Amino acid sequence: MTDVAGREEQIGFEPLVGAGERYEQRLTDLIRSRNAQDVCDVGGGAHPLLKPESLSINFAVLDISETELSKAPAGYTKIVADISAQNFQCDRRFDVVFTKFLAEHVRDGEQFHRNVFSMLKPGGFATHLFPTLYALPFFANRLLPENVGRLALKLFFPGRIYGNEGKFPAYYRWCCGPTSAQISRLERIGFRVIRYTGYFGHPYYKRVPGLRTLERAKSEWLLRHPIPVLASYASMLLQKPAQ
Ligand SMILES: C[S@@+](CC[C@H](N)C(=O)[O-])C[C@H]1O[C@@H](n2cnc3c(N)ncnc32)[C@H](O)[C@@H]1O
Repeated sequence: MTDVAGREEQIGFEPLVGAGERYEQRLTDLIRSRNAQDVCDVGGGAHPLLKPESLSINFAVLDISETELSKAPAGYTKIVADISAQNFQCDRRFDVVFTKFLAEHVRDGEQFHRNVFSMLKPGGFATHLFPTLYALPFFANRLLPENVGRLALKLFFPGRIYGNEGKFPAYYRWCCGPTSAQISRLERIGFRVIRYTGYFGHPYYKRVPGLRTLERAKSEWLLRHPIPVLASYASMLLQKPAQ
C-alpha cells in the first residue's frame, strides 16, 4: 500500500460487488445506533435512498434540481439548493448528512465538503459514496467533452450499475480513493475522518468477456496489494467534532 503510512486505521479496501447494499446498511446502522433524528440526503433527487417511515426520523432531501425533487415521494422535507455554492445557506442542522452518487457531480469539491460540514450539528456525521478517478471509464468521462463522453459510455458500456451517472454532468472534484493527501484535505476542513474505503472492480467491463476476466484478476490482486489511487469507487464516514 502506498501513501497512507500512519493512516491504516482510517483506511480500508473492499470488493465493489455489494458496495451499494453495504453502504445503505451501514448508513441505517449509523442512524439507529446514534439515535439520529434529523437526517438529510443531499442529491437524493427523485430517488432518496431511505424511507423516513421505516426509521421514524425527520428526513430532508436537498437537491439542486426542483424537477428531480418534485418526482420524489411525499414524506420528505424538500430543499432546493446547490450544495457546492459559495453562498450556500441552510437553516436546519442535521445529525447525519449523506450522499450517494452526488459528489462526482459538484463543481467545487472543497466547497461541497465545507457546506456539508456547516449543515451538521456538533458531533454529527457525514457519509458519501461516489465513483473515483482514476478508474479508466470515469477518467475518460472527465477528459472527453460531455456529449462525447456520454456517447462513448453508451456505446461501450451500455449497462450501468448505479444511479443515473450519464444524466448529470460529472466533474469528479475531490473524488479519489483513500489517499493520505485526500484525508488531510478533509481534516483541514475540520472533519474527523473515521473511515475511508476504496472499492476495487468495475462493472462497466462486464459485457466484454476478455476485459471482464482481466478486470476481475486486477481487482483480486489489488485487494491483496491495495493502491488507493486505483480504486474505482469510494465511501467515507466523517464526523464534525462535538466541540
Ligand atoms: C446521479 S443522481 C443521484 C441521485 C440519487 N442519490 C441516487 O443515488 O439515485 C445526482 C443527483 O445530484 C443532484 N445534484 C447535482 N449537482 C448538485 C449540486 N451541486 N447540489 C445539489 N444536488 C446536486 C442532481 O440533481 C441529481 O438529483
